[in-house]
Amino acid sequence: MNTHPKGWNLVACADGAAVAEHVAACLLRDRLHWLDQPLGLATGRTMEPVYGALVKAVHALPVAEQHRLRQQWLSFNLDEYVGLAPGDAGSFAAFMARHLQRPLALGMDQVRLPAGLASDPGAEAQRYATDLARCGGLGLQLLGLGLNGHVGFNEPPCPAAAPCRCLGLSSTTREQNAAAFGGDVRAVPERAITLGLAEILAAKRLLLVVTGAAKAGILARLLSEQPSPELPASWLQGHPNLTLVVDQAALGECGDIDPCFS
Ligand code: GLP
Repeated sequence: MNTHPKGWNLVACADGAAVAEHVAACLLRDRLHWLDQPLGLATGRTMEPVYGALVKAVHALPVAEQHRLRQQWLSFNLDEYVGLAPGDAGSFAAFMARHLQRPLALGMDQVRLPAGLASDPGAEAQRYATDLARCGGLGLQLLGLGLNGHVGFNEPPCPAAAPCRCLGLSSTTREQNAAAFGGDVRAVPERAITLGLAEILAAKRLLLVVTGAAKAGILARLLSEQPSPELPASWLQGHPNLTLVVDQAALGECGDIDPCFS
């Protein structure tokens, strides 16, 4: 692990598979040992191999440990599309059921997400934030990075104090996520409920995962720019316990920004 001049911990892995193993080990350690607060989870293509590696690692544990992990599990996802039922294949609830909740045989109430079908999405955002706060707030928060610098669905411009809320999605984000809707950008919902930067920055530990060459440009901006609403992920720079896990493809043009990368 290296320390970036901004004070972040940087873990540079050879490829996406190595990233997934590393992050899965962090999540496993969290759910076995740091149980005072819920785990914060993310969706997206970056997380598919992460959850794959986590499921494999859990199944390799002694049965008693697996049982303990199942009993102790409580996670809150970052976000959900407005208007999608949990059974809709494009919903984040379906993503979590497919990649984590069913493979690990967790209860539905152990893997929480905002309710996409709530009749009042604004009120649902408040209910979700209250539920999270009642459960102790976030311990470790797992994060991916959007192509426009969003975390969760905190689209630019976004202040650091933005709370959990319902908001409109940008065309960049809807295009980025169209693959989960058969490539049809018009099928991607126009609104979502997301935890805000306020809840994310209040987490004890942040784990930001960035993989693949397509993210090299936005990662370079994140490593070099000052915090600003135009790049929502840049607010993470002010967090006292941030680890950034990247692969060489995402690192791409950042080699000269931090010479301690190997
Ligand atoms: C999505 C999600 C984020 C995710 C990010 C990256 O829109 N709301 O939580 O981390 O964008 O997605 P991907 O991993 O598919 O690139």
